[in-house]
Amino acid sequence: MTQKKDLFEPFRFRNGVWAPNRLTLAALTNSQSHADGTLSNEELHWLNLRAEGGFGIITSCAAHVSKLGQGWPGALGVSDDAQLPGLTRFAQEIHQRKSLALMQIFHGGLRADQTVCGGQPISANDGGPTGARAATEQDLEQVIEDFAQAAVRAHAAKMDGIEIHGAHGYLFTQFLSTTENHRTDQWGGSYENRARLLRRTMQAVRARVPKDFVVGVRISPEDGGNARGIDLDESLQLAKWLTDDGIDFLHMSLWDAFKPSIKRPAEHPLDIFKRVIPADLPIFTAGHIWDRNDAQKVLDLGADVIALGRSAILNPNWPKDIVDLAWQPKRLPTTPEHLSSVGLQPVFINRLRVRPGFFVE
Ligand SMILES: Cc1cc2nc3c(=O)[nH]c(=O)nc-3n(C[C@H](O)[C@H](O)[C@H](O)COP(=O)(O)O)c2cc1C
Repeated sequence: MTQKKDLFEPFRFRNGVWAPNRLTLAALTNSQSHADGTLSNEELHWLNLRAEGGFGIITSCAAHVSKLGQGWPGALGVSDDAQLPGLTRFAQEIHQRKSLALMQIFHGGLRADQTVCGGQPISANDGGPTGARAATEQDLEQVIEDFAQAAVRAHAAKMDGIEIHGAHGYLFTQFLSTTENHRTDQWGGSYENRARLLRRTMQAVRARVPKDFVVGVRISPEDGGNARGIDLDESLQLAKWLTDDGIDFLHMSLWDAFKPSIKRPAEHPLDIFKRVIPADLPIFTAGHIWDRNDAQKVLDLGADVIALGRSAILNPNWPKDIVDLAWQPKRLPTTPEHLSSVGLQPVFINRLRVRPGFFVE
């Protein structure tokens, strides 16, 4: 029988990098950066508190690789060398607290925020809510180069690795989708073509950073949230391709880690993916994991690393607190006062107001 995975055991990536445990702060957009995409003391404080609370890996918010890809006001950028000193501090301070620093690198595509992205957003096709234009060959080569440069910057800042955001309906998902991508050139049509942008990006990134720099990809394995037209079998093919392209981990964003697959309701997505990828390729996952029991169950279902979003927002010391088996995490709905007491600035608290279920009405 295989040994049960332990949340607190040190965890080794394929490339030999060690994380102190199997607990990760998920990427959480928090609007606390400066307008030019540089890190603020407030954003670093919110992250440091979670590192002090024992999360072995601290992921940044979705950090844009180019201004045109910026998704929100107050987002962190990894698009300019002027952002390097802040990113270097991010890595340093997270390391001082004995956690790994992971940058999520991102392009919003047609979901870029027009109030801040400084131009007409690009996507697979013309149109969409922001009046995007279909990206040209040159645009797409530039996107690939922007991701590669962002990875080089994250490495120069002494981050431990990056997570390419290929999930949730942003640029890569707009291309991967069976329903959103209507192109007839080499970037549309067959799945090989629709996956080209993400694969070429992954290959370009891998070629520009050393082997001991962790590179992972976050995907939506099926439809969920804003990810549309995502087919399970295609995602399985994508996982195999990305493995060939040299990922060190695959992050499956599930929103509810306890739900079965949409396409194959008798099976769990983690189980399905585990069967097609190499045994030593770790799977990260997130979604509705609130307490220690939930986390252990998701490890037992096949995940290797647990990422927490909302529970980590409310409970910054979650990893340390769960050592006491009687401890109960705070759950939603919550109050602005509680969020303020766990290191969130008003700008982040306000952002959460648009999310259903966050606050007591
Ligand atoms: C406020 C907020 C911001 C988020 N920002 C990001 C983000 O920047 N990048 C990303 O990949 N996912 C983002 N997510 C999704 C989370 O990483 C996570 O997958 C999701 O919240 C499900 O996990 P949970 O149930 O533990 O919250 C965000 C979620 C929330 C609630």
